[in-house]
Order: sequence, then structure tokens, then C-alpha cells
Amino acid sequence: MKFLSTVVTLALYSAVLVSGACDDVADGFEPLNGGTTGGRGGTVVTVSNVADLRKYATSSGKYIIKVAGTVTVTPAGEEIKVASDKTIVGVGNNAAIQNGGFGIHNVKNVITRKLRITNPGDADTSDHDGIQADTSSNIWIDHCHFESGGDGLVDLRKDTTFYTVSYNIFRNHDKTLGIGWTENVSAQASIHHNWFDKTNQRNPSADNLRYVHLYNNYLTSVTSYGHYARGATEARVENVYFSNTRNPLTADGNAKLAANGNTYQSCSGTIALNKGTVFNASTFYI
Ligand SMILES: *[C@@H]1O[C@H](CO)[C@@H](O)[C@H](O)[C@H]1NC(C)=O
Ligand SMILES: *[C@@H]1O[C@H](CO)[C@@H](O)[C@H](O)[C@H]1NC(C)=O
Repeated sequence: MKFLSTVVTLALYSAVLVSGACDDVADGFEPLNGGTTGGRGGTVVTVSNVADLRKYATSSGKYIIKVAGTVTVTPAGEEIKVASDKTIVGVGNNAAIQNGGFGIHNVKNVITRKLRITNPGDADTSDHDGIQADTSSNIWIDHCHFESGGDGLVDLRKDTTFYTVSYNIFRNHDKTLGIGWTENVSAQASIHHNWFDKTNQRNPSADNLRYVHLYNNYLTSVTSYGHYARGATEARVENVYFSNTRNPLTADGNAKLAANGNTYQSCSGTIALNKGTVFNASTFYI
């Protein structure tokens, strides 16, 4: 029976790999609010240079944009605008966006997967992010590797909502993952199965989110702080493994927090206590 179940598991896993580009749906808040399908059902194109990437990313209509190899962005630092209804997915295991990133502004329904994204720049003077989203909804950032950003690796700001950030690697960086940045307490987000490795601050910094569900993340060698519920954020933090992390879990005075099943190994500093009544994720998704 054990053998059989392994075979079944492998078969399911290959099915996921085969369909991985276009058909998968995230766990978390991303599938709500009408669903996040990216370019599913639209035109499928493969790009290997920045002109083609920019052309299809900014086009209206549904596109599945497959990225083959390394696309070097010129001018360096550009956050390529992404219009609604796009899936941008790496082909194989070595697809990369180098010297640039994506800007998702006032749009809905964008998926980015399987890309290594580096957008270096001067930390004091550039605003070079790997992915920056403002006032957008239904975003899924999955299986990407972020490193070498000028500013934030990923910034999801100004009422951007209904998104899932899953299975990404964030590595060797100062300002890692900033979410919220709004006075309105409206955003709903899930951050799960990410690896924050040798990063400093914002892992993530969650500022004024209505609901943020952080689970099964792995933080190693984090030097300033780990998960941080800022402002009036309501956070549920479950089964997160904090290793060698300074201030693994912080909650501001007006924040609400429910934390359970987390592991703190060789950590120092703040581990915030539960407070307030926090949403139950199973009200929204399984
Ligand atoms: C907050 O919501 C109001 C409308 O209720 C809107 O005008 C404002 O732009 C929002 N703030 C941000 C930072 O998006
Ligand atoms: C959330 O709701 C489910 C279903 O009603 C329940 O089984 C579970 O215990 C609840 N979890 C918490 C943390 O309250």
C-alpha cells in the first residue's frame, strides 16, 4: 500500500509539473474575489528578450508569456509594466529577469512563476524592486527567486489585495518583502512556504492588512526582524520555522495576532504574544 501511495503521489506530482505553467491555483486568498487565472485561455507566447517581454506584458487581453533563458532588462532598473490578465512563467529551471523587474499598477489578475528576478541598484537612491504592485488585486507570486534588489525585493502596496506569495526564495537582502503601506485596512493576503534566507528587515513587514495569513514559511539567518504585524494588521501565523532569526515575531500595539505551531530555534529578541480575536482562515479557504 505504501508503494502504491508513493506511485500515486508521484503521478500527481508529475501532473502538477506538466500543468504547472498555466492551470494551477494557489492556496490562500488569491483564488477569492473572482479568481486569479492570469492569462489562462489566452494567447501563449514565448519571449527571450526585453522588447518582446515588454510588448506582451503591456498588451491588453489574456496572455501566457513564457520566458526562455535570461532576459536582460534595458534600461537597467525598469519595472516592466504588467497589464491585467497575464501569466508570466519561466520555461524550465533557468529563466531569469536580470537588471529589472515588474510593476503591477491598478490592474487585476497577474501571475508570475518560476523566475529568478534581480533588479540591483543603489539602496539609497534607486527604487528598484523585483516586483512592485500598487492598488491591484488577484496576484500570485510563486516559485520565484528574488535576490539583489536595489530597494525592496517585493513590495505589494497601497491596497493591493487578494494575493498569495508562495514557494519563493528571498535571499541576501536588506528590504525583503513589504506589504500594505496604506491607511486603509483592507488587504487580504496569504504568505506561505517561502524561504527567507540571510535577509535583514521586512520578512515580511505587514502594515495595515485586514487579514494576513502567514504559514509554513522558513526563516534562516534573519538579522533585523522576521514576521512583523504593523499598524492595525490582523495576522495569523502558523507552523512557521524561525531559525537563527532576530526578533522573529513582532506585533504593534493595535495589531491582532494569533500564532500557533511555530518553531523558534536559536532566535533572539521579540516573540509577540497572541492578542485580539483573529480571523479563522477556514472561513475563507481550506
Ligand atoms: C484608501 O481608500 C480611499 C478610499 O476609501 C482612497 O481614496 C485612498 O486612495 C486609499 N489609500 C491608498 C493608499 O490607496
Ligand atoms: C476554524 O474553523 C474550523 C471549522 O469550523 C475549526 O475546525 C477550527 O478549529 C477553527 N480554528 C481556529 C483556530 O479557531
